[in-house]
Amino acid sequence: MKTVLVVGNWKSHKGVSDARTWMSTFGSLVHSHPIPKEVTIVLCVPFSDLSPIHEIITAEHLPIALGAQDVSPYPEGSYTGEESAQMIKELASWVIIGHSERRKYLGESDYELSNEVTQAKNSGLNVIYCIPDTKTHVPPEVDVVGYEPVASIGTGSADSPSHASSILTTIKHATKIPMTIYGGSVTPDNIGDFLCTPNVDGVLVGGASLDPATFFQLIANASI
Ligand code: PGA
Repeated sequence: MKTVLVVGNWKSHKGVSDARTWMSTFGSLVHSHPIPKEVTIVLCVPFSDLSPIHEIITAEHLPIALGAQDVSPYPEGSYTGEESAQMIKELASWVIIGHSERRKYLGESDYELSNEVTQAKNSGLNVIYCIPDTKTHVPPEVDVVGYEPVASIGTGSADSPSHASSILTTIKHATKIPMTIYGGSVTPDNIGDFLCTPNVDGVLVGGASLDPATFFQLIANASI
């Protein structure tokens, strides 16, 4: 099988108590059915969950890399309410930057997002950079590009695998970023169809990552 990246994005869901419950169920599933080495799992959680989940992953040796869903465009300093890349790096190794919900609801611009990428890379974080189409600028330092058509996010109306594949092929050629993934209504039922198309090197999963058994099934179906 090919190597794939499965990224869970909890968005603004799960306080610490729910997060611990999720980890307990997911951890039991992983211990009884080990995940193939070809699948890299990245779990992107709210800032408040990073520390407790980092502790659980370390204590239980779970094969999960931890990520944040945003990072400050500024370094550590007098920026009230911001989470700097250095702070995130103490607990996590990945960060999602440029998700369309942040562009839409938080007004994040390409300029601000480029500064976020700079901060993240300066601190050694791996960056998953989300774009809604082929016209959106991609900073050259990012590690993974996520194509997420807005009409498919959280709607249950996924893009067709062949269309997603052709868009990701265009993005990969234009940006030279080696890893390109698809996001938008990915489920255990459709993940296999996406992953068997060219240049869909992984998936970004919102709703279907919230339930540990569903997310585990999705990962199992990624390894077929
Ligand atoms: P969804 O979200 O899987 O719920 O459509 C995807 C995303 O926004 O990353």
